Amino acid sequence: MQERLKKILEEARQELSGAASVKDTEDTRIKFLGKKGQLTEILRSMGSLSPEERKELGQAANQVRAEIEALLADTASRIKEKAREARFRAEAIDVTEPGKPAKLGTKHPITITIEEIARVFKSMGFSLAEGPEVETVFNNFDALNAGPYHPSRDLSDTFYINDEILLRTQTSPVQVRTLLAQKPPIRVFAPGRCFRCDTPDATHSPMFHQVEGLVVDEGITMADLKGVLDSFAKQMFGPETKTKFRPHHFPFTEPSAEMDVSCFKCGGKGCRVCKGSGWIEILGCGMVHPNVLKVGGVDTERYTGFAFGMGVERIAMLKYGIDDIRLLYENDVRFIEQFK
Ligand code: DAH
Repeated sequence: MQERLKKILEEARQELSGAASVKDTEDTRIKFLGKKGQLTEILRSMGSLSPEERKELGQAANQVRAEIEALLADTASRIKEKAREARFRAEAIDVTEPGKPAKLGTKHPITITIEEIARVFKSMGFSLAEGPEVETVFNNFDALNAGPYHPSRDLSDTFYINDEILLRTQTSPVQVRTLLAQKPPIRVFAPGRCFRCDTPDATHSPMFHQVEGLVVDEGITMADLKGVLDSFAKQMFGPETKTKFRPHHFPFTEPSAEMDVSCFKCGGKGCRVCKGSGWIEILGCGMVHPNVLKVGGVDTERYTGFAFGMGVERIAMLKYGIDDIRLLYENDVRFIEQFK
């Protein structure tokens, strides 16, 4: 029996020295100390022995059990320590490894164009005004002298949300908001998104940008309008730029005009950009209609004003030679990167 105990201890020691997992250790424990384990069986079989033999063997068996238990504990902590080390090795970070360079984005051509327009008007003493993209029908049409039957209200051009709310079709409602919020003298520009129910093609997009302008003060005349917009054109497209004003119609201005600039590509000789005419249409403008000033509570006997509105996409496309408006909304980085 003593011999068997020795062999059990030896075998347990051997097994545990090769144990590589918690499961291996547990298997060994069951094999020797479990309910049907080898050592348990020896202890159980001692009933048939004499009291002295039982005492002697009992002591020896208990000692072997204690030693195996100690071995099991050692093995368990050795395995745990090994797992910890392996985890540390796997999680190690090489802090000396060079970082990946962060790629800087570029500004969108629409942003660049709006910033350039803003810079010019700021230099002439204009301040920024803003309005919401979701507007009232009143601010977008009625207050701008486009009565209930004006064609620009047509369902096919306007995204109506309900009878009173729409997606603004122009930045002109910012004029109304400004007139209601400020007292003359007023000198603001208002860039922003507009929406019209157009099918996308090379020159149309249901979402586009405009920059609006409004000046109201005592003694403002058409000469101020022409002076400011001519100066804008020269700062935006170059000092040689010429301007001309053609009569036009807008419900919120009277008289109204469109401004053309001499072609900045060919200087007026005629080319592809200006379609051979030497001139490029750039914006709509006019003297603010008294009905609009009245909505804003402005004393029309004392004050007059002018307003203008331009399409940002059109200017950006002309300036950068972009021939399809859809390119501006595809977010192809290879396209956008060209306009640094
Ligand atoms: N809102 C006009 C449009 O979308 C552009 C415009 C024309 C604005 C004349 C003005 C203006 O302020 O005076 O076509």
